[in-house]
Amino acid sequence: MTNQDLEKLVDTNDEWIRTRTGIQKRHVVEPGTGTSELAVRAAREALGRRGVEPSEVELIIVATVTPDMPFPATACLVQDKLKAGRAWGFDISAACSGFLYALTMGAQFVQNGVHRKVLVIGADVMTAILNYEDRATCVLFGDGAGAVLLEPGEDGSGIFDFHHEVDGSGGCYLNMPAGGSLHPASHETVDKKMHYVRQEGQHVFKYAVRKFAEASRHLLERNGLSPAQVDLFVAHQANIRIIDAAKERLGLPEEKVVKNIHEYGNTTAATIPLALGTALDQQRLEKGDLVLMAAVGAGFTVGSVLLRWSGVDWS
Ligand SMILES: CC(C)(COP(=O)(O)OP(=O)(O)OC[C@H]1O[C@@H](n2cnc3c(N)ncnc32)[C@H](O)[C@@H]1OP(=O)(O)O)[C@@H](O)C(=O)NCCC(=O)NCCS
Repeated sequence: MTNQDLEKLVDTNDEWIRTRTGIQKRHVVEPGTGTSELAVRAAREALGRRGVEPSEVELIIVATVTPDMPFPATACLVQDKLKAGRAWGFDISAACSGFLYALTMGAQFVQNGVHRKVLVIGADVMTAILNYEDRATCVLFGDGAGAVLLEPGEDGSGIFDFHHEVDGSGGCYLNMPAGGSLHPASHETVDKKMHYVRQEGQHVFKYAVRKFAEASRHLLERNGLSPAQVDLFVAHQANIRIIDAAKERLGLPEEKVVKNIHEYGNTTAATIPLALGTALDQQRLEKGDLVLMAAVGAGFTVGSVLLRWSGVDWS
């Protein structure tokens, strides 16, 4: 769905969307497609590239705020569709920081030796919860999924630290108010459009700009590293101005920053694995590279992860 397509739905224009957000288009699933469907496609691609069979996967973690349904967990639906018979799994709800939280969880199971093959998926069908009468939110989001397979690292490669934060007082600035136990679905909740994303954009924007840099800097300093030593910055893709502000504050050159928001918009839990995919397609990752990942999302949630790229073979 291009910005021009949106011009036909709400009072907006391509110039406003591009200059305020960096987004040129976003992808929209066919009606009736649930998040598990996208998650399975991403998982199959990740496993296929590594030559690993679904039956070898031991744990599946899905980060999403748009599960197919409140329960069972999307991870269970993915396990079944993938035919990953050995795997257990669960979902993580941390909005735009969801993938980094899921990655951290998955890494713990690999690091402590309990599992050797963990599938971590970030997937969201945001268009299912967008109000196409609210120009301030509907232009921002799109649908997508990305997956990574975690395995024990060699030569010191892999995920080696994280710094996550939650500030629950920010929950009121970005949420979907109904559909949970507080406001179960009713005629009233539907009439009041409470099953859609609601956001106070400016408040989220300011918090995100501050926290992207703060969390990243904190994590680097704790590891005796400086931003200059980062080879690739893979940030959550919510707004090009947020990514650029983080880049400036950290003093990173443009060539170390992955950007694909123009292509996908904000796909919530999927942005970071999609950005990793973009970096791989552009051959911007080499063995031993220091990769910094950062995200800020509803909650508020803040996530940052540091890793050394393993450079394992895959096709
Ligand atoms: C949403 C966001 C792009 C809005 O940008 P902004 O510069 O803060 O713009 P404002 O909200 O101040 O709105 C400015 C004007 O543009 C208008 N506007 C909002 N959406 C518009 C749209 N799609 N098209 C045209 N005009 C729009 C507003 O109505 C407002 O008009 P007014 O000045 O006449 O009242 C920005 O706040 C943002 O990106 N926030 C963070 C969102 C985010 O990343 N969320 C995900 C979690 S990380």
